[in-house]
Amino acid sequence: MLNYGGDFVPFVPARAEGAFLYDASGRRVLDFTSGQMSAILGHSHPEIVATVRDAVGRLDHLFSSMLSAPVVDLAEALAALVPELPRVMLLSTGGEANEAAIRLAKLVTGKWEIVGFAQSWHGMTGGAAAATYKAGRRGIGPLAPGNFAVPAPNAFRPRFAAVSWQQELDDAFDLLDRQSTGNLAAFIAEPILSSGGVIDLPVGYLNALSAHCRARGMKLILDEAQTGVGRTGLMFAFERDGVVPDILTLSKTLGAGLPLSAVMTSDAMAAEAAARDFLFYTTHVNDPLPAAVGLKVLEIVQRDGLAERAKAMGARLAAGLRGLQQRYACVGDVRGRGLLMGLEFCTAGGRDAAAISDAVTDLALELGLSANIVRAGASGGVMRIAPPLTVSEAEIDLGVELLGAAIGRVMGSD
Ligand SMILES: Cc1ncc(COP(=O)(O)O)c(C=O)c1O
Repeated sequence: MLNYGGDFVPFVPARAEGAFLYDASGRRVLDFTSGQMSAILGHSHPEIVATVRDAVGRLDHLFSSMLSAPVVDLAEALAALVPELPRVMLLSTGGEANEAAIRLAKLVTGKWEIVGFAQSWHGMTGGAAAATYKAGRRGIGPLAPGNFAVPAPNAFRPRFAAVSWQQELDDAFDLLDRQSTGNLAAFIAEPILSSGGVIDLPVGYLNALSAHCRARGMKLILDEAQTGVGRTGLMFAFERDGVVPDILTLSKTLGAGLPLSAVMTSDAMAAEAAARDFLFYTTHVNDPLPAAVGLKVLEIVQRDGLAERAKAMGARLAAGLRGLQQRYACVGDVRGRGLLMGLEFCTAGGRDAAAISDAVTDLALELGLSANIVRAGASGGVMRIAPPLTVSEAEIDLGVELLGAAIGRVMGSD
């Protein structure tokens, strides 16, 4: 295998069902990251299995200029959820959707400078990678020129103790204005920076960011790859703030684990893009099979009230994690929204946070829990916890118990 980032996990799933993974010997592991933060319905949800079986046997893939019922139906379902952004295009991955969003913003504004957070992750393709600052910028030559980063607000580890997020944001835009050549096209943001350490933008931040963008004629692109489709307790994270972006990208959770992404924008942006010959023609654009899956995902999430469920289960999870925080000095912070939570380890008992977080993750896997660590900035390790929205109370409790056991053993107190 070509190694593409970090070590492979020493567990080889042979089967997955609901919130669990099973290896060939039948050993089961609780999947607290929903695969790659995507499988919001759990693994092999029977209705998704049936949808895939049906779609692959009836209408799988088409010439890229052909539309089909599943594609139009999914576009309509998405437009009904965000009426301000009724123009929809379906793609395969998150990086691809952001690539299209950035291209759209550049074309419509006639400008080319793109701003993102210094802890962002938007994908591995050219434009998305150029707006990704969490990792991957070295050793590959020049990235797209005209990309700028501003710090994301971090309540647990503020960069400057006496500086509010408002001041930090205003200051960042002041610096941007000085560096810009007058070609600011868009700001791309995750409402919760997941790979960046589960950094939740505070209430009011998106409004302030949106105002800064409007003042400069910039488009606001929100990347809801991980936060969209119910995970935070609302259908979309931006609903908490009442800020509708100019472009919304969805991916991971929209296909619940299958490769499907969407770009959504307004009629006005779509008309302007069409007038300027917007081109984003790919092999799998608007393919019917993944669209049928996305349609079923939305139907299940709405029918089964999974956003509300994420809120309730998230509260249970947060309470469990806060219990661990009270018990163990190495748990520095618990944060997040709904079923997208982060647990930040800190130095304790003479051991540094990175070593503790690695040891806990390894031991948790041995005990039967899969969760992963992200590192960003000054943090030694943030465990990302994002179980499927279908997770049961017993599974939440089991996950917290296994994590507690792993921490206890690593810290030598259990
Ligand atoms: C917020 C966000 N956007 C975009 C991406 C990229 O998505 P993909 O890996 O499907 O290209 C990711 C992947 O982790 C992500 O977390």
